[in-house]
Amino acid sequence: MAYEVLVRSDIEPYHTIIPMIEQFSQICRWNPLDPLPSADILRSVEGVYNYGHYAFTADYMDQMPGLRVISNFGVGVDHIDLKGAKERGIPVGNTPNVLDGATADMTFGLLLAGARNIVRGDHFARGPDFVEYDPSFMLGQEVHQQVLGIVGLGNIGYQVARRAQGFDMKVLYHNRNRNAKAEADLGVLYASLDELLAQSDFVALNVPLNDETRGMIGRRELDLMKKSAVLVNAARGGVVDHEALLQTLVAGKLHAAALDVTEPEPLPRDHPLLALDNVIVIPHLGSATEQTRQAMSERSVGNLLAGLKGEELLSRIV
Ligand code: DGY
Repeated sequence: MAYEVLVRSDIEPYHTIIPMIEQFSQICRWNPLDPLPSADILRSVEGVYNYGHYAFTADYMDQMPGLRVISNFGVGVDHIDLKGAKERGIPVGNTPNVLDGATADMTFGLLLAGARNIVRGDHFARGPDFVEYDPSFMLGQEVHQQVLGIVGLGNIGYQVARRAQGFDMKVLYHNRNRNAKAEADLGVLYASLDELLAQSDFVALNVPLNDETRGMIGRRELDLMKKSAVLVNAARGGVVDHEALLQTLVAGKLHAAALDVTEPEPLPRDHPLLALDNVIVIPHLGSATEQTRQAMSERSVGNLLAGLKGEELLSRIV
């Protein structure tokens, strides 16, 4: 039986996705920057495959009376009106677990790059000013045996903590709930957010974006951090107040910020954060490896098919 599935048209999904969906569905393509397709088309849509985190509102859901599942490519679902989906009884699938390792690797990559001037060093070493080795130049911050503060010790945060063990780091964490397993397995120590910010040499943000975490790192929180500290954001841009971050970095009150994500994403090309050389910014690559994209594809298409068939999703957030 061929179901009817809505897939965005402006970005081509990872190459294995469309062939998988086509095995059980007809695909209707639509550019999320355009108005929705006509009511005639929407009437037959049974599944939405959300690739690349475009906003999906309750109003959209209402225009698709036959909608039975929203499958999101990715674990973060802050762009989908979850309350609206719940009220309408539409299950929302996402892709937890399969991307934890890749995202934790990138968190650590950003941490190292921010601490040790890897990106600045690369730019410098390619330019005309590199004429002689100077041992006093571009000194960074030590990573091993330092204190790492993880904000959000979920699946990804847990993997970040495991990697920190290899660097002999002391790990503090802050979470809504204490994580007894992580404390027992990894020796991580619970701290209030303020204590964590004040004591950490590195702060890694690994929380989902929601009403509780939006803007959680603002001026007051940044002021608590050490001047030598590095802030790593591999969560969502909205967790950090970018204006406060800019002022903190310009004032030299932080060694560096390393950002996988920003808000908005991308930042306007003339955004002042992009002009600072103690900022590293990459284009939302946390889980961007071939292996993880394949695993995310299988999980999200599996969720889509299960929802279309009226079965339990493999991973369901709503
Ligand atoms: C996620 O899983 O939410 C990441 O941002 C990649 O999509």
